[in-house]
Amino acid sequence: MTFDFDHPPARAATDSQKWQKYSGRDVLPMWVADMDFSVPPAIVEALHRRVDHGIFGYARPVKSTIDSVVEMTERRYGWRIDPAWIVWLPGLVVGLNVTAQAFAREGEEVLTLTPVYPPFMSAPRNSGRHTVQVPWSFTPRHDSADTSTAGCWNIDWVALERAVTPKTKLFFLCNPHNPLSRVWRREELVRLAEFCLRHDLILCSDEIHGDLILDSNLPHIPTSSLGEEIAQRTVTLIAPSKTYNVPGLGTSLAIIPNAELRRRFVRATAGIVAEVTALGYAACEAAYREGEPWRQALLAYLRLNRDLVSAFVQRELLGVRIEAPLEATYLAWLNVSELQLPDPVAHFEKHGVGLSDGAFFASPKGNHVRLNFGCPRATLEEGLQRIKQAVVEARSTV
Ligand SMILES: Cc1ncc(COP(=O)(O)O)c(C=O)c1O
Repeated sequence: MTFDFDHPPARAATDSQKWQKYSGRDVLPMWVADMDFSVPPAIVEALHRRVDHGIFGYARPVKSTIDSVVEMTERRYGWRIDPAWIVWLPGLVVGLNVTAQAFAREGEEVLTLTPVYPPFMSAPRNSGRHTVQVPWSFTPRHDSADTSTAGCWNIDWVALERAVTPKTKLFFLCNPHNPLSRVWRREELVRLAEFCLRHDLILCSDEIHGDLILDSNLPHIPTSSLGEEIAQRTVTLIAPSKTYNVPGLGTSLAIIPNAELRRRFVRATAGIVAEVTALGYAACEAAYREGEPWRQALLAYLRLNRDLVSAFVQRELLGVRIEAPLEATYLAWLNVSELQLPDPVAHFEKHGVGLSDGAFFASPKGNHVRLNFGCPRATLEEGLQRIKQAVVEARSTV
């Protein structure tokens, strides 16, 4: 079966957050992480079937929905989970907030590597916990003879050790990493797990982008699958939302093997976390049970978009760099610091492209923007041409 990623329905003047931001303006929205593609036909069919039933009471997942999750993690990653470990959530950011409240007290600390998806920093703060940021370090190719670290974003293990205090209770991991589009290597995850064990930290592993690996040589490794010891202190957060483009249906899962941690997590949700909806469960099951051919076709399409972005930036955008290969996600992290723009997002918007501000991810203001290439190729080509005009103009005033 073939899928048409080139001609999705128009989203302007719909309920799309991504498109409403620039409603009435000629700005291509390439910011928030949802894709401009129709979802797998199997999801649409499952939703139709569920809608046709006509009753939408409080929902619980049926056995076949739970089995679809268990079978997916085993088939895709060799990761065996017990249905009892699953806590359903209406969103993954909810999971980050609940985790912070469940496993750190007010005034205690959550460690994370920055730049990172903004709720990693805001979730702890929302309930009076502190986020401690350890910056990723970038090693340029010419600065290192070590080929395993040159031209990559690397973990500054010394800074990470130094950042731990008696108040540190949690580590927030983005696996794979948004916005760096980086896949974690097994040895790094093992070292990180050892770090969390040694410092008695709970590890929260956000794996929402785990099914979106673009580099076919790099497997996604669920952190919890590394071994029993780390599994017993890990909260894994997954969702069909990014991969199958259903974030508006609000269905995510926390997978928590340890019964006591699970109890604390569930207690922190009491009375404040909404139920997952019947439509959310239906879409989730269809995605995991029947969405694989669509996912493979999507990955093939995204790989070509990724190649287009990488080549265009290198060839056409003087003063813009993608520092390291884009290994996962449909998000490209662009270094625009050479352009010396006080407000890069405003500058690109003026030229008709809406990007995400790197400063929200804790990159120094003016250094980075994030480009969402989860869109039809024609839209991407138009967006890149607009970016080029913006870059040419910026360079003329530097
Ligand atoms: C790493 C990461 N976690 C969570 C989310 C959002 O999850 P949700 O919409 O389910 O709250 C995103 C969205 O971009 C993300 O990139």
